[in-house]
Amino acid sequence: MYLIDTVGALHIGMCIIYLYFRSKKICGSPRKQQRQQKAVLSCKAPRCADQEGKGYFSIVLFLSFPSFNQEKKASRPNQKFYEMIQEFRETLEITPVSASDLIEPHRICVCVRKRPLNKQEVNKKEIDVVTIPGKGALLVHEPKHKVDLTKYLDNQVFHFDYSFDETATNELVYKFTAKPLVQSIFEGGMATCFAYGQTGSGKTHTMGGDFTGRQQNSAKGIYALAAQDVFTYLNHRRYAHLELSAYVSFFEIYNGKVYDLLNKKAKLRVLEDDRQQVQVVGLEEIYVSTAEDVIKMIEMGSACRTSGQTSANANSSRSHAILQIVLRCNDRASTLHGKFSLVDLAGNERGTDVSSNDRSTLVETAEINRSLLALKECIRSLGMNSDHIPFRMSTLTKVLRDSFIGEKSRTCMIAMVSPGMASCEYTMNTLRYADSVYDAISQVAELEEKVYSELKVEFS
Ligand SMILES: Nc1ncnc2c1ncn2[C@@H]1O[C@H](COP(=O)(O)OP(=O)(O)O)[C@@H](O)[C@H]1O
Ligand SMILES: [Mg+2]
Repeated sequence: MYLIDTVGALHIGMCIIYLYFRSKKICGSPRKQQRQQKAVLSCKAPRCADQEGKGYFSIVLFLSFPSFNQEKKASRPNQKFYEMIQEFRETLEITPVSASDLIEPHRICVCVRKRPLNKQEVNKKEIDVVTIPGKGALLVHEPKHKVDLTKYLDNQVFHFDYSFDETATNELVYKFTAKPLVQSIFEGGMATCFAYGQTGSGKTHTMGGDFTGRQQNSAKGIYALAAQDVFTYLNHRRYAHLELSAYVSFFEIYNGKVYDLLNKKAKLRVLEDDRQQVQVVGLEEIYVSTAEDVIKMIEMGSACRTSGQTSANANSSRSHAILQIVLRCNDRASTLHGKFSLVDLAGNERGTDVSSNDRSTLVETAEINRSLLALKECIRSLGMNSDHIPFRMSTLTKVLRDSFIGEKSRTCMIAMVSPGMASCEYTMNTLRYADSVYDAISQVAELEEKVYSELKVEFS
């Protein structure tokens, strides 16, 4: 293949040289042209030369044919990389996460979900550069070129609590990520589940429900699945005596401002009182008694989120959407018992990747970057049991402040990745972000385990 490519390049080079000299002959200096015209008039030599050239040109084309044929046979851009990845995959043993696997309890759980190639990508014959061999592992086969243009794969390995491949359903992802957190809000804790990733990687699909055409099936998203479980627990005899009621709020943070999705996008203020309690002033909290009620709220909020904008999808992908299921005691003060925040984060692509590059886009991007960085730092601090939680860094972390404090806080992050080669750079950015959260947490977990086992030895 390499030899054929070199021969092809050589022929193309020769063609260019030939065409160059031919054009010189025709459109050379006026003096030269005059000379040529004279020659045409006096004898037929230039025509012969032209014919010679044409002859050579056809030979070149003929010789180039094997490499053209090869490309035709390949029929997909980056065929070589495709074959290399396929070859690599054949050496792997693949066992995807299955519903019967054991669910391990985590205070902070970091996982990744890969979506399938979409229709456009399949039509473009885009190659899939992400492989999920099993449980927590994920491989990115980054296509690269050496200095001498030889193609090679830079295979990078990542490890998370769980890695879900393109065949995983929302139910399966929910079972291992948000479901274990539901119980914690009945125990008086704060639970948070984040969907992180590039625009188009599947955040809204996972949280809000899958799409059939343009219609979103809200009952099949993590929002609705969590709501169903909340009502199961509410009616469970273990928690019935607590006399709790469930409420829902749904809001959006765009450019550091909060908008109520259950109240016609009313702009709200975020205030912090002297006890460091953060309040979103005037946020609607609607009483719900069944999972269907919650689904209605999700549909209402989602419709409000994408309406009234010229480029609806672009704008909604630049904002964070937060659905909160709040448990309150049925007492006079409606005391807060527990809260589950489910967050569909803004796309993590850089400002330069967004279509328009005006000032507002840059401000918007800076705000997103700041909030995502703040979020990472807050989760890391929670994981490391640090006293200092930098929640004031952004509106997002401010409104989620109680998610990062207390023994009973549970967090889960689902990093979404697109599988295509064109998204490789964004995929790597997403994985690096998730990895830095995972790394900090696992270091602490290892340390705790070490201390625990040392204590066990000492007291045994
Ligand atoms: N796991 C999946 N299976 C099938 N289609 C998916 C999956 N994840 C995402 N998609 C599709 O990809 C497109 C983009 O997903 P979306 O959730 O809107 O991305 P994001 O919210 O991250 O911008 C949607 O058409 C969605 O239906
Ligand atoms: Mg989205």
